[in-house]
Amino acid sequence: TWTMLNIVEDSIEAVRRQVGDGRAICALSGGVDSAVAAAIVQRAIGDRLTCVFVDHGLLRKGEAEQVERDFVAATGVKLRVVDAEERFLKALAGVSDPEEKRKIIGREFIRVFEDEQRAIMADGPVQFLVQGTLYPDVVESGGGTGTANIKSHHNVGGLPEDIEFTLVEPLRALFKDEVRRAGEELGLPPAMVWRQPFPGPGLGIRIVGEVTSERLAILREADAIAREELSRAGLDRQIWQCPVVLLADVRSVGVQGDGRTYGHPVVLRPVTSEDAMTADWSRVPYDVLAHISTRITNEVREVNRVVLDVTSKPPGTIEWE
Ligand code: XMP
Repeated sequence: TWTMLNIVEDSIEAVRRQVGDGRAICALSGGVDSAVAAAIVQRAIGDRLTCVFVDHGLLRKGEAEQVERDFVAATGVKLRVVDAEERFLKALAGVSDPEEKRKIIGREFIRVFEDEQRAIMADGPVQFLVQGTLYPDVVESGGGTGTANIKSHHNVGGLPEDIEFTLVEPLRALFKDEVRRAGEELGLPPAMVWRQPFPGPGLGIRIVGEVTSERLAILREADAIAREELSRAGLDRQIWQCPVVLLADVRSVGVQGDGRTYGHPVVLRPVTSEDAMTADWSRVPYDVLAHISTRITNEVREVNRVVLDVTSKPPGTIEWE
């Protein structure tokens, strides 16, 4: 649209003025906010922006490729990819407590990002850090514009504390739906532009129990099936998000073909919401649920039971951990 085009162009111009001939870095999460922010800054200053994508191995099926391949192809962004899966899994080994998992993931993320930052700064100083802060975040945090730290609570990351950057926040005036339209205007991959909310700690907080690569592989397959079927049923815009949760320490008896099985349950957690502060469980049509259940139990060998979470928020949270 014409007005969104103007907003995007003004924003590119504003970044150009702010950054001058400086350099900037940006951490990509796979989500729409950081992607659109990075795309705008790339248009403004080209290769003086370096993006960093820390692949912690906790993303869903296809998401790393979306960043590394599709986003780069669409924007020409200079990207450093860090394959940190092994490092994260090692740090998470033996840990089941949700808060502990979150802390570990956040801490490892900062460490990896700091290493990258150091490597990038070896080529010359970097003054700016790009963040996908939206208008609601600005309001929530009292409207100040910052030089240093962001709330670490909801985004993987937080910032290394010893280096001060000036923040570049090209989305500060925008709401989520405007960010999506800006993303379309910038030609970003639709799967990124329309991605539903997904937590920074990723699948790590959707495995109840210890996080291992085998469990991640199971959850990744089950989740991909659920997403595919919900999309096919045309429910993407109605449903806020649908976490799929693997109850990795639970087993139940089942039967398949001639044999007894002793597998894991997965939980479907489809919710409708306006802002994630409150939520209701989505009344997904029975035939869609049936289809998801049949496919998951047929296609994911380790899963022999699919259950539906019918709890609103409150008292339940959207995520299980
Ligand atoms: P809860 O589970 O608190 O989730 O009802 C509310 C919304 O926030 C998302 N969420 C997160 N997002 N980092 C994020 O970026 C996180 O650590 C995190 N934890 C929860 C969740 O998916 C839901 O949309």
